[in-house]
Amino acid sequence: MQLSFPDSNDPAQKAEKRSAELRSLIGHHNQRYYQLDAPEISDAEYDALFRELLELEEQYPGLVTPESPTRRIGGAPLEKFRAVKHRLPMLSLDNAANEDEIRSKLDVRVKKLLGVGGDETVGYMCEPKMDGLAVELVYENGTLTGASTRGDGYTGEDVTANIRTLRCLPLTLNGTGIPALLEVRGEVYLPLDAFRKINRDKEENGEPPFANPRNAAAGSLRQLDPRITARRPLAIFCYAPGQVEGASFASQSDFLAAAAGWGLPVNPLVRAAAGIEEAVAYYREMQARRDSLPYEIDGTVVKVDSYLLQRELGEKSRSPVWAVACKFPPRQAETVLEDILLSVGRTGVITPVAQLRPVDLSGVTVARATLHNWDELAAKDIRIGDTVIVERAGDVIPAVVRVREELRNGSEKSMAPPQKCPQCGSEVVRIADEVALRCMGLSCPPQIRESIKHFASRTAMDIEGLGDRFVEQLLALGLVHNVADLYALTKDDFMAFERMGDKLASNLLAAIEASKSRELYRFIFALGIRHVGERTAKALAQAFGSLDNLKKATLEELTSIRDIGTTVAQSIRTFFDNEENLAIIGRMLASGVTPTATAKKVGGKLTGKSFVFTGTLTRFSREHAGKLVEDQGGSVVGSVSKKTGYLVAGTEAGSKLEKARQLGITVLDEEEFLNLLETSR
Ligand code: IVH
Repeated sequence: MQLSFPDSNDPAQKAEKRSAELRSLIGHHNQRYYQLDAPEISDAEYDALFRELLELEEQYPGLVTPESPTRRIGGAPLEKFRAVKHRLPMLSLDNAANEDEIRSKLDVRVKKLLGVGGDETVGYMCEPKMDGLAVELVYENGTLTGASTRGDGYTGEDVTANIRTLRCLPLTLNGTGIPALLEVRGEVYLPLDAFRKINRDKEENGEPPFANPRNAAAGSLRQLDPRITARRPLAIFCYAPGQVEGASFASQSDFLAAAAGWGLPVNPLVRAAAGIEEAVAYYREMQARRDSLPYEIDGTVVKVDSYLLQRELGEKSRSPVWAVACKFPPRQAETVLEDILLSVGRTGVITPVAQLRPVDLSGVTVARATLHNWDELAAKDIRIGDTVIVERAGDVIPAVVRVREELRNGSEKSMAPPQKCPQCGSEVVRIADEVALRCMGLSCPPQIRESIKHFASRTAMDIEGLGDRFVEQLLALGLVHNVADLYALTKDDFMAFERMGDKLASNLLAAIEASKSRELYRFIFALGIRHVGERTAKALAQAFGSLDNLKKATLEELTSIRDIGTTVAQSIRTFFDNEENLAIIGRMLASGVTPTATAKKVGGKLTGKSFVFTGTLTRFSREHAGKLVEDQGGSVVGSVSKKTGYLVAGTEAGSKLEKARQLGITVLDEEEFLNLLETSR
């Protein structure tokens, strides 16, 4: 993401160009994420783009535009977190490492201090020990007014804006008896499926993954831009009161019931125990259930239930006497790494995978472990034949934690990153600033399926009817190996599908035929070049006019186009420098694909006029309206600025309409828009 080759020597000019590129990239990715639910990049990659823009704007305040994604109302990013002093310190817990310690460190001490007989029972509350990070929420008269991290126990960081993005948390409490002040402590965590997805994305995007769900949760909550936190499905379970005014609780079970009653998330697995043996049984049960829970727990917490007794027992220096954290044993095992396999992901990322001598890891036989990426492999100096420690940390896929170097006998072999893709033999590229190696071949099997789906999709080549299901069948029958094969399909090929009729087969064939004359920008977009979304494809088609010109474009020529910077330019060059990609494009052209450049109507009545569409359009689709505008030389942009020519407002138009009015921009309804098109013809 850096300017790594000469562009212009003037840093201010460079910054201006890069910030325009970043705004456009972020806008593109926001749309992929929020509107299409089909993100192309990982959150971390998005975060990096966002941070880069923030830094540039900080350095050159003149570059800030009202449309900058950094300036959106409601989610303005913070410079840094404000420090918050906790009214009552947030303590930590004493640990018990096994069942015996639960008895000795809690029950024996409690009974001694309370003067209770050995065979009497103390009432306890048992809870899963969530592996996340502790926060304190403040509700004033039932409204969430603040949230802070635990910090050092006395002072934490104000994360209110981020906490407000947690969908499971009520912003106002419901029910009766809501206190004037309610401080609640709880654990913010990331469910395992979200954790796995974030790490998969990170690996696909060549970034180092989070080591465990706790780090992922902490990293997501401590984001200066709340909208980034909002993209991570963080959750919370509440487990303790802080300062409370206007309500009182007799016990922990009382408190949890009240909290749940007001709508706060309380772990449904909490359970009262009559005596320590029930608490020990709970610990045993949770350990057995640990792997089937949708979130990571690292133990249980046992608390004396009665708040009266809690007060009597009091606190030691940093932890209460009335509770103990019962930790589970780590899920680690030692085994031999027999081989290093290469796996190729959807976007061509080649990941090293450890093949292990099968070993039991707390009840699960493990034969594979992820090595994450080549940097990590080198940093940990992991070699074939090594004795290694593997761990399952919040993930079904275990990881190699470290090597027992002292057990080496000299026969262990290091493995160098591959030069060629193990699946298709294509060249392997390491993109600057990424830890991943990527196969750049367009005909690499794991990549083919997704690339064909994208190629045929509505906004790309728009091959009507050729949805995911048919693409899967074409691949399963071995009828297509790359996008060029689509144009060699016959009706008989389709007739081999399950439940295929004559008419449907003819329609599919006709749709493929019709796609041959799509506009150039659609074809460019359909190729699935990294970082080239629809808007960039349009800019490229307009600037180069033909595929041939684009194929030959130099980095300098590419970066001279508005909104295209080095990241995008380099990605385009890499794509067209690949022989395989060129061969596939060549075959498509030979089959009669003739991407046509619609010459922009220079001199059309709308030349130089930009349009923004907002609200619900009832008379035509946005896509169609955009085409009409472009046909007459105008352009369509996403947000309103001083430079906007017209705002076309459908029903239920919101903030864009308001802004256009403030800026004195001409606002048209659908009828007026159609009239304008008529008169400008
Ligand atoms: S009670 C004074 N309950 O464990 C008691 N803590 O090692 C305060 N934790 O900082 C904590 N689940 O982050 C409590 N059900 C639970 C918990 C829990 C996770 C965490 C919390 C705390 C740490 C102490």
